[in-house]
Amino acid sequence: MAAVTPARIRLTRPDDWHLHLRDGAVLHSVVLDSAQQFGRAIVMPNLKPPVLTTEDARAYRERILAALLQASEQAGAQVPAFDPLMTLYLTDRTSPDEIRRARDSGFVYGVKLYPAGATTHSDAGVTDLLGQCQATLAAMQDCGMPLLVHGEVTDPAVDVFDREAVFIERVMQPLRRAFPELKVVFEHLTTADGAAYVTQAEGPIAATLTPQHLLYNRNALFKGGLRPHWYCLPVLKRETHRLALLEAATSGNPRFFLGTDSAPHPRGAKEQDCGCAGCYTARHAMALYATAFESVGRLDRLEAFASLNGPAFYGLAPNSGTLTLERVANPIPQELPLGDDVIVPLAAGESLAWRIEAAA
Ligand code: NCD
Ligand code: ZN
Repeated sequence: MAAVTPARIRLTRPDDWHLHLRDGAVLHSVVLDSAQQFGRAIVMPNLKPPVLTTEDARAYRERILAALLQASEQAGAQVPAFDPLMTLYLTDRTSPDEIRRARDSGFVYGVKLYPAGATTHSDAGVTDLLGQCQATLAAMQDCGMPLLVHGEVTDPAVDVFDREAVFIERVMQPLRRAFPELKVVFEHLTTADGAAYVTQAEGPIAATLTPQHLLYNRNALFKGGLRPHWYCLPVLKRETHRLALLEAATSGNPRFFLGTDSAPHPRGAKEQDCGCAGCYTARHAMALYATAFESVGRLDRLEAFASLNGPAFYGLAPNSGTLTLERVANPIPQELPLGDDVIVPLAAGESLAWRIEAAA
């Protein structure tokens, strides 16, 4: 373990390999939070309606870049260099031709599998992956297009806390037996079972880890009362799982890398009788990860996790810039503006030990 905690750490500029930017006024409010820290982000396609085609992705990418320009101007800030890496939303009807168009576009970097009904805006998702999507998965395998997986079964008979482990058996293993060369990212891993699977599996597989699953266990959902801003999917798990994820993230294994799953919902959409899943972490993302890595004396492994492992898996070069974090108290505000509304960030009211000093 590293003995002394440094006062500042400088990293190769990191990337966020799993991000929800939304659209319209929300996009405009959140885009700078990510772009000021990350050089690139894999942008999730679960808009309403979803991003189904390469053409949809091209138009969405332009809206993101336009929002970034406008938000930077309004903030009087320099426009950060930020490349949105787009994804398509896999459905039972996504065609192999669409996959080839996506690959040829040069701006689509993955295709997202949402099992139908698994999470926010997933009703258009896949009902039977190996039954319905064979030819499409074959095209993805052929052209090196990664499949980004929300790894939870939706079977109502399976306990919510077991859905990731059951997914490995029922879907992940058969999928990877059928398509052993398909690049797969097991998104927002939440269990020791998932971490063990990704560590041991053969072939091109990796996983993203969120700040909330590295920092908190499911007690956070119930501490002093029901706390909707700690609710995301896959839901926080028990402490043994958190420890296994933290071990995976800080192990130096290149299969594990940063993906915040920052998922903005206005305060009212979370604080209601059936509140939405999703934690807003974009603003404090690198400070949250630094806090997690410091908790096990492994700040020396943060750069590989945040800045090197992801690009290596996606076949890209690391970013050329840097990001400097300094060890200064960083209180998380109770709320932030979100269009005409407000959003409550993860861990609102708590204080982190790290903040961003400079990006270059
Ligand atoms: C995400 C969202 O709100 O779009 N919510 C979440 O809890 N993570 C969807 C997702 O990634 O599952
Ligand atoms: Zn997500």
